[in-house]
Formats: sequence, structure tokens, C-alpha cells
Amino acid sequence: MRSIVYSRTGSSSVLSLVEREPATPGPGEVRVKVTVSGVNPTDWKARAGGGSRPVFDEIVPNQDGAGVVDAIGDGVTNLAVGDRVWLYLAQHERPTGTAQEYTVVPAERAVKLPEGVGFDVAASLGVPAMTAHRALTVHEFGPARLSPGSLDGRVVLVAGGAGAVGHAAIQLAVWAGATVIATISSGEKATLAKAAGAHHAVNYRDTDTADQITALAPNGVDHIVEVAIARNAALDVQVIANHGSIAYYATDGGGDAAIPVWSTFAKNVRIQGVLLYTVGDAALSAAAEDITAALRDGALPVGEPAGLPLTWFPLEQTAAAHDAAEQGAVGKVLIDVSGDNH
Ligand SMILES: NC(=O)c1ccc[n+]([C@@H]2O[C@H](COP(=O)([O-])OP(=O)(O)OC[C@H]3O[C@@H](n4cnc5c(N)ncnc54)[C@H](OP(=O)(O)O)[C@@H]3O)[C@@H](O)[C@H]2O)c1
Repeated sequence: MRSIVYSRTGSSSVLSLVEREPATPGPGEVRVKVTVSGVNPTDWKARAGGGSRPVFDEIVPNQDGAGVVDAIGDGVTNLAVGDRVWLYLAQHERPTGTAQEYTVVPAERAVKLPEGVGFDVAASLGVPAMTAHRALTVHEFGPARLSPGSLDGRVVLVAGGAGAVGHAAIQLAVWAGATVIATISSGEKATLAKAAGAHHAVNYRDTDTADQITALAPNGVDHIVEVAIARNAALDVQVIANHGSIAYYATDGGGDAAIPVWSTFAKNVRIQGVLLYTVGDAALSAAAEDITAALRDGALPVGEPAGLPLTWFPLEQTAAAHDAAEQGAVGKVLIDVSGDNH
């Protein structure tokens, strides 16, 4: 089979196309014939590595993907050969991700796709949708699970509504019944955030962003899904409601955030970090179940009309796909591994 691998970290030039034998699934694992591999910032960041040596001798990149189960290990009861699945954390603590024709994953990281859901949608879920699910469910008085109506009456602010995680957060929050305000940096991105379902889009570069959000949510914002906590902390605490929750999932360049002490204290604000790799199995499986329910309801479409433009690459151009993600391609970068997806 064709695999993309790297043995040292660095620029995308460390990626090469090689031939490898498909692995045999061990106990509790499944092998998946990959049709689409999804690229996330975490994939190029892990590959770039900051000069450190990779943990494994050879790594196949990319955490997310979609395909068809083609072999089952001992003890797997929740999946069968022929099942269409979406994959999450395929390469977490393992050397083999989804940038190859077959990959082996623990069975719980392959989730059965509802009838009729395309592989483009399926490969866009993993990191973005699971992160968004967690960010929306860590509120002191909010629901721990998402379903239609679970966020009724609540206001959600999604920072960066045209990003991949932002897009998933808008879709899940709207599916769950919230009023959603997205922040964006341009008219084009406002159009994408609204196409995803956001009720309102506000430019975070305006001088009166807080006033605009407060006018839309006079009682304050209940949940904030935050991509840039260091830059947005002051805005967030201005617009947040009493007992509101700010769930931040990105490091914002690694700088520290200055937390306005008086207003966070006075409003009983919860500031919650979210990192998928360490969030734990209970949160991951809850997210996988709720995302599957949202898929069944047709709530998570992708593509430009749904607010998430897709940029495709063939498997042999995985390096270019990583570069596109690193350069901030708007929407989702996907790799057509089987060659028949677009
Ligand atoms: N913690 C986790 O487990 C986890 C999971 C997923 C992703 N992440 C991290 O989260 C980040 C985003 O991932 P992604 O896949 O969504 O990337 P993406 O598709 O590139 O989206 C990033 C979005 O952030 C927006 N943005 C940047 N600065 C902003 C600001 N000050 N205020 C509001 N929005 C701002 C950008 O919009 P503009 O360009 O218009 O500013 C863009 O829409 C990455 O750093 C990634 O590594 C972490």
C-alpha cells in the first residue's frame, strides 16, 4: 500500500511516499481502508516538531480520516467488515495515522457513520468536532451532553467562526438549540460563519466588538468557544454572563493571557482549558456519540455552501496539504487517499 511517512521532524519536505505492507489489527483494533484523510493544525505542528526527534522511528501523519473497515481484531464487537467509519486520534500515541491506504486503530476510535453521510464530512469531524463538543459541554450549569434542545435559551459565542473548530462549534451549538454569535475578521468569513448556521457575525477587529455583542446578548453570553484567549480575554469577560464559561482550545502563540480579575471574579466565570489529547476517554466517547446523533440529523454538512470550503490534495501531495493547513487555508484541507472522492 502507499503510505506517507516521516522519520525526522522538520518542514513538509520530510514527508515521503513509500510502499508498506498493511498492518494486521491486534486485539481490540480494526483495520480501515482509508478513503479520505483530514488535515488539522496539530498534524503539521507534530511533524514540524520544533527540531525534536519524533517519538517513533517512522510516523504516518494525520489524526482524522474516513473509510471502510476491512479487518477486525479479536474482541471487537461494535464494528464489522464493510462498516463505513470516521476516525479520530488515529495517530495519538501510535505511529500510524491516516495518510496511507490502510490504517489500524483501536476500535473505539473508529465510529460508524450514519447512512448517507459522505466521506468528506466524515474526515472533517475528528479533531474539530470533538474539540467543539468538549468546549460546549464544560459549563458549570450547562449540559454535559449535546442533543436537540440541550442548549435552548443559551447564547454561545464562537471566536473565529470561519475556522474548522469554530465551524463545528457553530453547527453543534445550533443543532443543540443555542443562539450563536460568531466573531470573524472579514465579510467573506462572516458569510461562512452564517452559512454554518451562526445567527450573528461580528468582526473582532472592530473597535466596538464588545458593544455589538452586548447589543445582541444583553444578558451576556453563556458559553464562549475561544481560539485566542490571550488576545480575547478582555473582550470575553466584558460580554460573558454571570456563571459563564470560557473554553479555550488553542495556545494563541503560546503567550500567557492576562485575566481581568475583578470581572471574572464578580461574574463567577469559569475559564476552562480544552486539549483533546488529554481530555480522557469519557469525554471522547460522549463526543463521538453526540456527533453521530448530529450526523444522523444532517446537522454537520461541509463545503462552501455549508460554511467550510474544502481544499483537496491527492495522497502523494500530502506535503502540500500540510503546507496549506500551515498557511491558514480557510475551511478544511482533505486528502483524497483512494482517489475517488471529488
Ligand atoms: N486543544 C485542542 O485539542 C485543539 C483542537 C483543535 C485545534 N486546536 C488548535 O486550535 C487552533 C485552530 O484550529 P482550527 O483547525 O480551527 O484552525 P483554522 O481552521 O485555521 O481556524 C483558526 C481560526 O481562528 C481565527 N482567529 C485567529 N485569531 C483570532 C482572534 N484573535 N479572534 C477570533 N478568531 C481568531 C481565524 O480567523 P482569522 O484568520 O479571520 O483571524 C481562523 O478562522 C490551532 O492552533 C489548533 O492547533 C487545538
